[in-house]
Amino acid sequence: MRRKLVVGNWKMHGSLAQNKALITSVTAGLRDLDNADFAVCVPAPYLSQAQSLLQGTNVAWGGQNVSQHEYGAYTGAVSARMLADFGCTYALIGHSERRVLIHETNTTAAASFGMALKAGLTPIFCVGETLEERQAGVSEAVVASQMIAILNTLGMDVLSKAVQLRAVIAYEPSWAIGTGRTATPEQAQAMHVFIRKQIAERDASVAGRVRILYGGSVNPSNASQLFVMPDIDGGLIGRCSLNPDEFIEICRTACETSAVAG
Ligand code: 13P
Repeated sequence: MRRKLVVGNWKMHGSLAQNKALITSVTAGLRDLDNADFAVCVPAPYLSQAQSLLQGTNVAWGGQNVSQHEYGAYTGAVSARMLADFGCTYALIGHSERRVLIHETNTTAAASFGMALKAGLTPIFCVGETLEERQAGVSEAVVASQMIAILNTLGMDVLSKAVQLRAVIAYEPSWAIGTGRTATPEQAQAMHVFIRKQIAERDASVAGRVRILYGGSVNPSNASQLFVMPDIDGGLIGRCSLNPDEFIEICRTACETSAVAG
């Protein structure tokens, strides 16, 4: 059975003082929970703080973005090796906000995925369609093209390595991000099955092991309906990851739904 995973994406929020208070509350609240995995992806300047406050706890940490390049003259970019230097376990890749606002493409996301693996990081590869794409009935085609970018560009060897590193896919329809409008559990489950099928066509055992998270307005009230779905292996949480009580509640729900599924 796949173990559930809840990842907080703080996005561009926080300060040294706020982070300390948030991490202190979250780690205290999660201390006794052990049948799911937890992590937070923090802004790059706070990686050192996350490392010093989270090491030795059951909450891992990660970056929100990885450069497609290994090193070089790319002002403002953060390399996979830099994230590894600060003890990151995870790296978000291809988040829709970066695809839309910073014009990251399937090609750059695939290259970043390869860089993350090379540095020993676990990539959390984000896919999802926009509202216009859903309304036009092309959601599956869009997600398939995002998946193909990693499956075909990197090849099965890389994909097997990705699975050893417990690579994660996150389905985040951008119309559900920060809007309060969540995909229904049935909509999310259907897309998760579709994503798993894309992988199964190449390798069924890899498909069975990859964790697929749902992201987009997950909150303590809707988490359990989402997490009980058989192909939803946890959540990628934006707004509610900034509120310790809400984040802890969502993590608790992941543990409870794991127990039910088990
Ligand atoms: P919200 O939970 O705020 O909708 O954000 C989801 C997200 O983008 C996580 O990466």
